[in-house]
Amino acid sequence: MICIVAASAGLIFGYDIGISGGVITMEPFLKKFFPSVLLKMHDARQNQYCIFDSQILTAFTSSLYITGLVSSLVAGRVTTATGRKGILIIGGAVFLLGTVLNAVAMDVKMLIFGRLLLGVGIGFTNQAAPIYLSEMAPPKWRGTLNTAFQLFIGAGVILAASINLMAAHVGDIGWRVSLGCAAIPAAIMTVGAMFIPDTPSSLIQRGRVQEARKSLNQVRGVDSDTEAELNEMISHNEAAKADNRQPYKVIFERRHRPQLVLAAAIPSFQQFTGINVVAFYGPVMFRSIGISSDGALIAAIILNVVNATSTLVSTFAVDRFGRRLLFFEAGVQMIACEVALASILASELGTAGTATFSQGASITVLVLMCGLSAAFGWSWGPLTWLVPGEILPMEIRPAGQGIGIACNFLFTFILAQVFATILCHMKYGVFLFYAAWVFIMTVFVALFVPETKGISLESMDTIWQDHWFWNRYVDVEKKYTIPDEELSYLAHQRISLES
Ligand code: BGC
Repeated sequence: MICIVAASAGLIFGYDIGISGGVITMEPFLKKFFPSVLLKMHDARQNQYCIFDSQILTAFTSSLYITGLVSSLVAGRVTTATGRKGILIIGGAVFLLGTVLNAVAMDVKMLIFGRLLLGVGIGFTNQAAPIYLSEMAPPKWRGTLNTAFQLFIGAGVILAASINLMAAHVGDIGWRVSLGCAAIPAAIMTVGAMFIPDTPSSLIQRGRVQEARKSLNQVRGVDSDTEAELNEMISHNEAAKADNRQPYKVIFERRHRPQLVLAAAIPSFQQFTGINVVAFYGPVMFRSIGISSDGALIAAIILNVVNATSTLVSTFAVDRFGRRLLFFEAGVQMIACEVALASILASELGTAGTATFSQGASITVLVLMCGLSAAFGWSWGPLTWLVPGEILPMEIRPAGQGIGIACNFLFTFILAQVFATILCHMKYGVFLFYAAWVFIMTVFVALFVPETKGISLESMDTIWQDHWFWNRYVDVEKKYTIPDEELSYLAHQRISLES
């Protein structure tokens, strides 16, 4: 239950991702805020690749990521005082405010201001939820429980796409319904977060050992012996406290280079899979290739169902087969689908983009997009939220996660902002651009991402010592420090003395 509440932070993120793509294809919405786009849409001579190439329209989608970027970094600092739970509640509340503004928007300024507030909320919740899940989960289920976050993102996208489909038929206020309904998942998460305990390690960091013990007993079950785990956390915290420098400074030290590089690279690379072409512009793409408005919204739902279902594959596979295998398989699958998509767009639309698609070709596009979406759903989707959170040691975990989300949002913003322009200029080549990236990223994973399956967060240090490249950053002295059991024993002694 605790994990469901925390993972539902993914629901509001997913809702946002899914809602904007559909809303921007609704005519009353375009008429009110972006009339020039509507004119282009009705112009038969218009190059199909370029209809949605409007900077202000893309700003509606991507503005959220600018404030998300800043607030995820702020969340990494604030969490030391508020805990993970506090961040979830604050994020949820700001998000609700943004939703109200969006639903009652009278002009573009109000609309975009609402999106900016949604971004602040999401920056907070996306920073806290994956850490919350990793810190609550027992090591052998950490991957499984953490993928719930991505699963909920997927569910949020489906919910949004379905609401878009219904709202498109309620007349001029359809888009208000679509944007306003974001309040439902937001309220569920915010209220739910008030009733869950904070994570044991976050409580220990704030000196609340008794509450940490209670929280740990609650999630591990009363019969299990949680003292050893608790002591391990306490000793880690003691060691981290002895070094009372700013986490944002510590993370830039040489010894943390592997964690810093991976915590920034994985979430950044995630965006170069091209997933958001599908997520944000799915309906737009389908309309561009001549599918009707409803057909485009339905196709988007199919895509999103595939995406969410494939995340379930990850839930099952991640702790059994490991993270690396999922990255590799998905890499191959994504490259194949993207190359095929490029060639079909090239042969059907050419570069003039004025021809319309045959029905068979439209279906093939949908199938290939599903292949891409599925591969993402069991690899870069969930693993982006899992791997950084698990490789970062406790003292720099929130800072590292903050940096990772900020990078993720930065590239989401840039790519969302330029996608319509790239599509207009590179045409079908846009998919070759992504395929090349996926190739580079897969090689990167092979060389630099160690397997983390089944390793406890507290013993994660060992993966760097055995790694061909990262071992040069391991502090040699650290290899000869007091063993963990000894530290736990000392911490235990300390607590008995204190009480
Ligand atoms: C990504 C989003 C993406 C979504 C799709 C998330 O993990 O960060 O950018 O739109 O997955 O399901």
